[in-house]
Amino acid sequence: MNYAGLDLLTTAVVVLDRGLAVLYLNSAAEQLLSVNRRTIIGHPAHEVIPDRELHAKLAQCLAEGRGFMDPELVLAGPGHASLNVSCTVTPLDAGEAQLLIELRPIEQQLRIEREAQRVSQAQANRELIRNLAHEIKNPLGGLRGSAQLLERELDRPELREYTQVIIKEADRLQALMGRLLTPHRPPQLSMVNIHEVCERVRSLILAEFPEGIVILRNYDVSLPELLGDKEQLIQAVLNIVRNAAQAVATLPAGARREIELKTSVARHVTIAKSRHKLALELQVCDSGPGIPAHIRDKIFYPLVSGRDGGSGLGLTLAQTFVQHHEGVVEVESEPGRTCFRIVLPLQ
Ligand SMILES: Nc1ncnc2c1ncn2[C@@H]1O[C@H](COP(=O)(O)OP(=O)(O)O)[C@@H](O)[C@H]1O
Ligand SMILES: [Mg+2]
Repeated sequence: MNYAGLDLLTTAVVVLDRGLAVLYLNSAAEQLLSVNRRTIIGHPAHEVIPDRELHAKLAQCLAEGRGFMDPELVLAGPGHASLNVSCTVTPLDAGEAQLLIELRPIEQQLRIEREAQRVSQAQANRELIRNLAHEIKNPLGGLRGSAQLLERELDRPELREYTQVIIKEADRLQALMGRLLTPHRPPQLSMVNIHEVCERVRSLILAEFPEGIVILRNYDVSLPELLGDKEQLIQAVLNIVRNAAQAVATLPAGARREIELKTSVARHVTIAKSRHKLALELQVCDSGPGIPAHIRDKIFYPLVSGRDGGSGLGLTLAQTFVQHHEGVVEVESEPGRTCFRIVLPLQ
């Protein structure tokens, strides 16, 4: 039997024979279990998958010809740190091959599910916001117009203070609604060099923040160009880097105010349940105080801000634009080091 195709899977696969000895394992399994295919073939299964109970279950599975699933297997072998995996066993009847074992690290599975959930939640949020913004925007025009008419009829000028409040507040709301409704322009696609995007953002931020912020560059110049909307990508990266600059600007005098832009290649990434062979990764890391704990899980939601005067739209928009490119923005943060990671699939 030819197993070559199984090497393309990210799921670890082990095939056993009738005597529960290893007939084959794919490269994902070699990696996961830290074993070498050449030396392990023919050895009993429990040498590669160190779990006592599993052995009995495998024997039973073979005898009854019925598969099983163990959602949380802990593998604690001498060769590696303990490993939590979900395990699916399927009986086969393909010559020597009698049992097929699939193993998936649990964090990986959780991460994929969490990401898919985040994307669909973000979509639902955007829909809600857009509808709400429309509902608010429409009557605002009438409100403002009426205040203007009223103002003209007023015979006591001191009352104009009140109509001006209505007009100014209507304008402010209008502008806010406008920003909530922005990402509507159809994308303008071209081949984009991510480093040109980074450089643009870097010079914009350096102009905006003159007070001694250092922006380090760590570019992988071998990265291919990506098909995308350059303006959207600039806006997305700009919003993230601006937050970083604002964060380091709050540090006390004398502290290290540093932002690093780092690009690299990522292989075999799963975003929102689709797999991509090749992706580029842009990390924006800063030496700031970190994301305040009380908003850490919500920063990508619209109108969530940890700053006075913040609109809370910067990251929502960044995430939206990156998702237009089938990518994702993730974050890890602790005091002294906050890293935003933008992953964009390449064709
Ligand atoms: N690099 C960062 N370091 C610390 N906090 C951050 C960082 N990036 C974002 N945040 C937090 O996330 C919040 C939301 O960001 P954003 O959506 O851009 O809205 P705004 O900047 O208008 O507040 C910010 O107000 C800030 O509290
Ligand atoms: Mg912002």
